[in-house]
Formats: sequence, C-alpha cells, structure tokens
Amino acid sequence: MSTSALHREKISVPRLIAKKVRGEKIACLTAYDWTMARLLDEAGIDLILIGDSAAMVFAGQETTLTMTMDEMLYHTRVVSRGVKNALVITDMPFLSYQVNPDEAVRNAGRFLQQGGADGVKVEGGVHMVETIRRLTDIGIPVMGHLGLTPQSIRSFGNYRLRGKSSKEADQIFEAARKITEAGVFSMVLEKIPSELARRISEEVGVPTIGIGAGPHCDGQILVTNDMLGLFEDFKPKFVRRYANLAETIRSAAADYASDVRDGDYPSTEESF
Ligand code: KIV
Repeated sequence: MSTSALHREKISVPRLIAKKVRGEKIACLTAYDWTMARLLDEAGIDLILIGDSAAMVFAGQETTLTMTMDEMLYHTRVVSRGVKNALVITDMPFLSYQVNPDEAVRNAGRFLQQGGADGVKVEGGVHMVETIRRLTDIGIPVMGHLGLTPQSIRSFGNYRLRGKSSKEADQIFEAARKITEAGVFSMVLEKIPSELARRISEEVGVPTIGIGAGPHCDGQILVTNDMLGLFEDFKPKFVRRYANLAETIRSAAADYASDVRDGDYPSTEESF
C-alpha cells in the first residue's frame, strides 16, 4: 500500500466533485461492517457506500426491500466508526424517503446525526426531485441512483439492463438532468448501456459512478462481497473478481477444524 493512501485527507463532497473536474476517476466500494470499512479506507477507496445490498449479501434476503431504518442505522454507525478518509454515504432504505419529503428529511437526518454518515443515496428520477431539493436545501448531501434501481425490482420483474430502448434511455437521461438540477452531488448509474452512461457523464456536472454502466463514468462502484469473491451464487458480467475469499475462508476454516480434531491446536506455545 502506498504511503499516500495512508496519509490522505478526508474526502468531502466538494473534493469528490473536484475529481471529476480534474478528470480523476473515483473508486467506490460498499461496506456493511467496521472491519471491512477500515480495510477499504486504508486501501484508499474514495467513497464507501453502506448499500442496502446488505439485505442480500450480508443478511441473505432475496431483495433489498426488507431493509429497515434501524438496520441501516446500525450498519451506518459501525461503518462510519471504521472510516477516516473516505466519503461515507448510506442508502436510504425502501419506504424511508418515498412517502413524503418531511419523512425523508427526518430519516436522512438520522443517518448524519446518529449514524455518522456524510450523506445519503436515494433511488429514482423525476419523482424524487422535490425530496432531493428539500434534503440538499438543509445541507444533507444526496447521491442519486438511476437505471436499474433495485428497490423497484417488483415493478421491473428482473435485474436486466435498463435504458435499452430509446424511450427508456431518454427518460433516464432526462432524470439525470433533473436530479442534478435538484442538487445531487453525484449519482450511481446501474446497469445501463455504456453509450447512455457516456452521454449522461458528459452532460451533468457531478460525478457519475457506474456499476455495469461501462468505462465512461467518472467513477466505478462494486458490491465488495462480489469483487472479493465472497458471494459465489452468480457473477454478473460487469463484476471483476479481485480475490477468491470464499475459497480462502472455507479452506482456513477446514484447516482449523482438522487441527482441533487432531489435537494439533492449540500447541504449547499457544497455551498459558
Ligand atoms: O446497495 C448497493 O450496494 C448499491 C450499489 C450497488 C450501488 O446501491
């Protein structure tokens, strides 16, 4: 690890936006617990997202819809505690911001006040404009999320590419312009064609962070459990595995079990 990664300054929202202006790519990952958050921060990750993907990869649920405010607050608190430098953004869970802007303000405020987050992420386009405006007006940084928005999985019916038809591509492009006008400091573009992500990234002044959206975004994000090879059930095309931790963990646990059963652990040196 480089010393510059160890002695970085805290990334603020203006510093993140400045990276886009300078043409520096932004590296983002998800975290759900203190240990992982600390490691990712030490590695120099720019933005750590407490994703509601925790419902699936941390808690074994089928969708993100089951995530509650209390659960997200817990994950946010433990992740924030582990991070010194990265910008910490937390997902607002399903139904915590869609009912009305007042509830969204109250819930988003809890993530900053009680969770230690630097900002929140909300899914959705034009219908989210009023809420985004209310939050940003009172100083709560908001990240948008367009394209495949997992909280809408029951209406989409599947996790396929969004924005493939020119009609849907135009809707996503328009939504990107509108949420930018409303004040988002950045937006996730999930599973849309590269060309659409390029058009949006050139159009909006805030960093676009892609996941399955090709190389033209200002930054990239992956679910950490996917890129570390902890989640093996399936591998989306856009995921690159940088490690095979599932195998490493299974093998370490099996070695330990065999040592215990054979009486090889603990040794005299490991005993008092
Ligand atoms: O919940 C999540 O992890 C996310 C990322 C995939 C962007 O929203």
